[in-house]
Amino acid sequence: MLDAVRPLPADPILGLIGAYQRDPNPDKVDLGAGVYRDRSGTTPIFEAVQAAERSLLASETTKSYVAPPGDPAFIRGVIDQLLGTDHPAVTDVRVGAVQAPGGCGALRLGAELIQRLRPGTPLWVSTPTWPNHEPLLGDAGLKIHAYPYYDHDAHAIDFDAMHATLAQRGPDDVVLLHGCCHNPCGADLTHAQWDAIGDLALERGFTPFIDIAYHGLGDGLDDDGYGVRTFAGRLPELLIAYSCSKNFGLYRERAGLVCAVTPSTETASAARTQLNSIARGIYSMPPAHGAAIVGRILADDKLTASWRDELDAMRGRLLDIRRVFAEAMAHRGADFGFIADERGLFSFLGISPEQVEQLRDHYSVYLVGSSRINVAGITEDNVEYLADAVAAVLDV
Ligand SMILES: Cc1ncc(COP(=O)(O)O)c(C=O)c1O
Repeated sequence: MLDAVRPLPADPILGLIGAYQRDPNPDKVDLGAGVYRDRSGTTPIFEAVQAAERSLLASETTKSYVAPPGDPAFIRGVIDQLLGTDHPAVTDVRVGAVQAPGGCGALRLGAELIQRLRPGTPLWVSTPTWPNHEPLLGDAGLKIHAYPYYDHDAHAIDFDAMHATLAQRGPDDVVLLHGCCHNPCGADLTHAQWDAIGDLALERGFTPFIDIAYHGLGDGLDDDGYGVRTFAGRLPELLIAYSCSKNFGLYRERAGLVCAVTPSTETASAARTQLNSIARGIYSMPPAHGAAIVGRILADDKLTASWRDELDAMRGRLLDIRRVFAEAMAHRGADFGFIADERGLFSFLGISPEQVEQLRDHYSVYLVGSSRINVAGITEDNVEYLADAVAAVLDV
């Protein structure tokens, strides 16, 4: 059987990382990789994470399995951060939640739950969306469809087109929304737009599925959770996939959570049993370490305050560097104000694939062909060089 196996083409992002690493140019700039980086180009470990890790090591007595639903302190802590302890879905015990291996694991568990309930359910994703949504959700058996979202010419959400497409959906549909810091475009719904999509979900009966992988990196924890919180309060049902990879810097530890917000305690509990059995059939038990760290941080006021400060500093750096880049481009006569208005790690530069190639070949600036950049790759040290390079390929 295995002699029939054929290789797949290399992942373009991995190719880009390799090319960047091989490039001897000391001025090279990496805008491709999808992780946060500080001013020195490092993806740091949070001090709160290190402190929680030390206390975990000192007190850990076993490496036996964690229970299939995961670490209760982690689950409670994340839900409290996201929804708040006094949210009606929490006080009414209407959230069925299971720890998952990262946000990807949470997305897949959510998709498998939908597939169990209604095989082949249409799942609507934004154009564009994170490319991994398609295999993560489609391979579970859901039928992927697209709704319009980002208008590349206007550098903004085409909300009328999005609304018009979602207004045609019904109770058989699931609609995937990015909770904040849209990947890849960085353009997020305003509160009023969230409310309008919530109205549509109520009116038309579709189920929203919110992927929130950058909580706290846009406009802060409260603002970034607006969509999730209001939907969980207003709508009869909602699925949430939460990732701690970025906002706790725990990428490789695989800490995530899938939540089904349901109309009743009984349904939430039933959803939890289904999610557990789905997890059991894929990987059995979740990894312990990352969730134990998050659980410890969120159960300790001092560690929580330290984590929030560090997260605020990361968010501040992203906002600052977005503004600094837009200003550097303005000095060169090009309007990149939209970069300053967008949020999170990603934005589109809005240049052609040929210009992306020129940036790489002539200036050692690496980004994917769609022109999506990771703004955390920009620093005070490289921003002028980068702005010169972009201005040169744009011929401004
Ligand atoms: C939009 C989006 N969703 C989910 C994830 C899942 O992240 P992870 O599985 O690393 O927690 C990511 C990570 O890049 C993402 O960008």
